[in-house]
Amino acid sequence: MKKTTRRDLLTTLGLCGGLGLAAEYAGAVTKESKPPAAETWRYVALDPKVVAAEAYRLYPEGRCMYGAFRAILETWSKVSGHSLDGFPFHMFGYGHGGAGGWGTLCGTANGGAAAIGLFVKDSERRDELIGELFAWYERTRLPRYQPADALTSKVVQTMAGSVLCHISVAHWCEGSGAGPTSKERKLRCRCLTADVAAKTVELLNHHLSGTSAQASAEATPKRPEQSARAVGKMQCAMCHQDGDKHGLSSE
Ligand code: HEC
Repeated sequence: MKKTTRRDLLTTLGLCGGLGLAAEYAGAVTKESKPPAAETWRYVALDPKVVAAEAYRLYPEGRCMYGAFRAILETWSKVSGHSLDGFPFHMFGYGHGGAGGWGTLCGTANGGAAAIGLFVKDSERRDELIGELFAWYERTRLPRYQPADALTSKVVQTMAGSVLCHISVAHWCEGSGAGPTSKERKLRCRCLTADVAAKTVELLNHHLSGTSAQASAEATPKRPEQSARAVGKMQCAMCHQDGDKHGLSSE
């Protein structure tokens, strides 16, 4: 009987990576259909329109974060030729309603940021791209996406003002007059999923081609220097009455 040495184990871990290993133990996939190893996650230019349609299609299956992330990955898989068999997409269902319904980070933004995190390894560039995506999300009247099968009239557009699901949805409900559990609100979030997935690949395309995304995106707003008592880049005035100076001038 062959004893598994620590070295064998480390080698296995190194070769398979976390996902492959988990899938193998679950007996879910064959060796050939393992998800690509870490170095394979190279972004290739994608068509934002294709990604948007895919996100809209996927939304009912797993909601906002799932729809945005999976649309980008599935489209990438088709274009790059890398198999995603065994990829645990279901995990992204957690992001719905601002993570398990807690109204924190909007799932579409979370899904877009996850895709950026997967493809952009440089942490500074990653955070910049997330910043551009989130600033755009905060300040753009959305949703813009028009489903091809639209039997519905145009969805009311509002400015979220925040990447927080709670605030984003509240502003939309205020603007549309529809309730947070209405089918209109779900359609809004479905269209928003398409918009954010498309915006994410637009930013990644710019990143890939080396052109400044700033040229096409609305410029990222200036945020105050980090406060001694708080972290974050959200628009301060959304919650603090004294706006951008909150907690900064009194130190
Ligand atoms: C989503 C709402 C929200 C946003 C956006 C937000 N804050 Fe806050 N902030 C709070 C809450 C809630 C508290 C804790 C309650 C309190 O004491 O005001 C807090 C606390 C703080 C404190 C500590 C207060 C103290 O007296 O010690 C500082 C400093 C602060 N925020 C600065 C900022 C800055 C700067 C920004 C923008 C970059 C910002 N906040 C954005 C909600 C927000």
